[in-house]
Amino acid sequence: MITPVILAGGNGSRLWPLSRQLRPKQFLPLTGSLSMLQETLTRLIPLEQHPPVVICNDEHRFLVAEQLRQLDIVPACILLEPEGRNTAPAIALAALQQLEHDPLALLLVLAADHRIIDETAFHESLLPAQTLAQQGCLVTFGVVPTHAETGYGYIQRGDPQGDHGFCVKRFVEKPDRTTAEDYLATGDYYWNSGMFLFQASRYLEELQRFRPDIHDACRRAMAGAIHDLNFIRLDEAEFLHCPADSIDYAILERTASASVVPLAAGWSDIGSWSSLWEACPQDAQGNAVRGDVLIHQSYDLMVHAEHRLVATVGVKDLIVVETKDAVLVVHRDRVQEVKQVAERLKEEG
Ligand code: GDD
Ligand code: MG
Repeated sequence: MITPVILAGGNGSRLWPLSRQLRPKQFLPLTGSLSMLQETLTRLIPLEQHPPVVICNDEHRFLVAEQLRQLDIVPACILLEPEGRNTAPAIALAALQQLEHDPLALLLVLAADHRIIDETAFHESLLPAQTLAQQGCLVTFGVVPTHAETGYGYIQRGDPQGDHGFCVKRFVEKPDRTTAEDYLATGDYYWNSGMFLFQASRYLEELQRFRPDIHDACRRAMAGAIHDLNFIRLDEAEFLHCPADSIDYAILERTASASVVPLAAGWSDIGSWSSLWEACPQDAQGNAVRGDVLIHQSYDLMVHAEHRLVATVGVKDLIVVETKDAVLVVHRDRVQEVKQVAERLKEEG
């Protein structure tokens, strides 16, 4: 049986000013009435599973606990990081925690900010993935790419493996645009969906092999952790010494044990304002609006108004976000740079 591991420690800065330090995007209802974290957990309800492990920043512990409570979900634990060290350490902590209870634990690692339209297709992809994971593979879920996106990992498909999977010939995290275009043209690359299935023990073996520094720091941080009800607060001094890296760079680009199971489930990562615009219902002019908005001869906009009426005249391809204390206006082609604005504001306090 699988144990879901939900990574909920990102800062979501590309969705500023909606996503804030105190309430990053995974805790917001961006595509429906539930938060992204709650949607991720709700999507798992039909599956046979152990209670989930959620891993987030210490600052968000009550937010996470409350959002789980609203769904009547009692987690195995909520792991609290004093500061994020990216996904390789976060997954290691969950793996170490699960191994204590079950040496054969199978982890289904999920981001807390993905959208999946066809949940049945997602559930079906887990069956072949489980078979491969039980054989010791690190399973990724591959999405057929539609454009040369540079914010994703790319997985080159190798020989068939099992009924529905393939060996991974090559994994390249966030290639530059020309490389991404080349991959797209060959037709044998998938986007990495950022969801993974593997045995906790196999993940830790590969981490020990490629990043013993991260592995050992996580072991020390878990050894000195404080258990408080469902919360597990890591040994802060030890965890702050842990180097930061993502599972993609630390392990997937290097391991010989990765597999890919294709996923055709209407998956998207709600990572930026343009991906949110794509995920929202649009009118005949391509405009997605929320709140009190008046649009005149404008096209392909996303306008989000919380406190005031927002009107647009004769503009195209813009994102306009109005909140109580900040207004963002950004061209749809420049949405990745919103992160820089959020970071500058953080530096300037
Ligand atoms: N607990 C914890 N701690 N969670 C984290 C941390 C951390 O330090 N850093 C990130 N996360 C969470 C985020 O909240 C998100 O749910 C997930 O881990 C993935 O992190 P992102 O920062 O969103 O990664 P990405 O989108 O740049 O890239 C990953 O996902 C892409 C698909 O969405 C990679 O796996 C790519 O290869 C992949 O294509
Ligand atoms: Mg992401």
